[in-house]
Amino acid sequence: MNINICKDAADLGKKAATQAAAYLNEVIGKNGYARIVLSTGSSQFETLSALIESDVDWSKVEMFHLDEYVGLPESHIASFRKYLKERFISKINLLDYHLVDGNPDSIPELTRLLREKDVDLGLIGIGENGHIAFNDPPADFDTKEAYIVVNLDDACKNQQVGEGWFPTIDDVPKQAISMTVYQILKCKKIITCVPHEVKAKAIYATLNNEISNMVPATMLRTHPDWSLYIDENSAKLIK
Ligand code: GLP
Repeated sequence: MNINICKDAADLGKKAATQAAAYLNEVIGKNGYARIVLSTGSSQFETLSALIESDVDWSKVEMFHLDEYVGLPESHIASFRKYLKERFISKINLLDYHLVDGNPDSIPELTRLLREKDVDLGLIGIGENGHIAFNDPPADFDTKEAYIVVNLDDACKNQQVGEGWFPTIDDVPKQAISMTVYQILKCKKIITCVPHEVKAKAIYATLNNEISNMVPATMLRTHPDWSLYIDENSAKLIK
C-alpha cells in the first residue's frame, strides 16, 4: 500500500496520471499492449484529464469500464458511458474499448472479453459510502463473477443527487451493473484517486476499519500493488 497526500484535486490528478502513464508505458514496452479498467464519477475528473495529456501510445491500450446504471440511456447526463466517451475515449485513439451498456444481457459477453487476458491497471474510485464500483455495503465479497447486477443503497443515490447528476433520489436508477470486488482485485496494479472533503470519512474507514464488506474499499488493502491518492481535504481525518 502506498499513500500519496496531494495538495488538491488538480495536483492529485497530475501525480496519479504520471504514475498510471509510467506503468502503462512499462507494460506496453514489455507486452506490446496494456489493458486498463476505468471508473468514473466526479472524483476521476482531474486524473482522466491529466491522463489524456500523458505521453502514452493509446493505440496499444484496450479499455474496460467499471460500472453503469441499469437501463439509463446514454443520452442522460449521469450515464457513465457518455462520461467515458466525452472525457476519455473521444480524446485519444484507443486500440479498443468495451463499455458497460446498462443491459444485464450484455454481462456474459463483457465477461468473456475481459477475461481473455489480464488487466494491467485499474483506476478505481471510492464512493462516500465506501463503495468500489457500485458494490455498496454490504458488498458481495464471495462472488467470482466479473460483473453483477447490484441494488444501490440510499447513501450512494444521495451522493449522485448531491453531485447534481439527478434531481431527486427517486430519479436515480435502483440498480447498476458493477464489476465485482473479486474482479477489481485481479487488476495487476490499482490506483485509487479520492479527492475532496466529502470523502474524508470514507478514506478514514478505508484505512482504519477492519476489512469488511460494510466498507467495501477496505478490501483494497489486501491488494499487493495498491496506490491511494488523496488530497488535503479527503485526508483530513487521518492526520
Ligand atoms: C461512482 C462510479 C464508480 C466510482 C465510484 C466513486 O458512482 N460509478 O465508477 O469508482 O462511484 O466515484 P465518485 O465518488 O466520484 O462518484
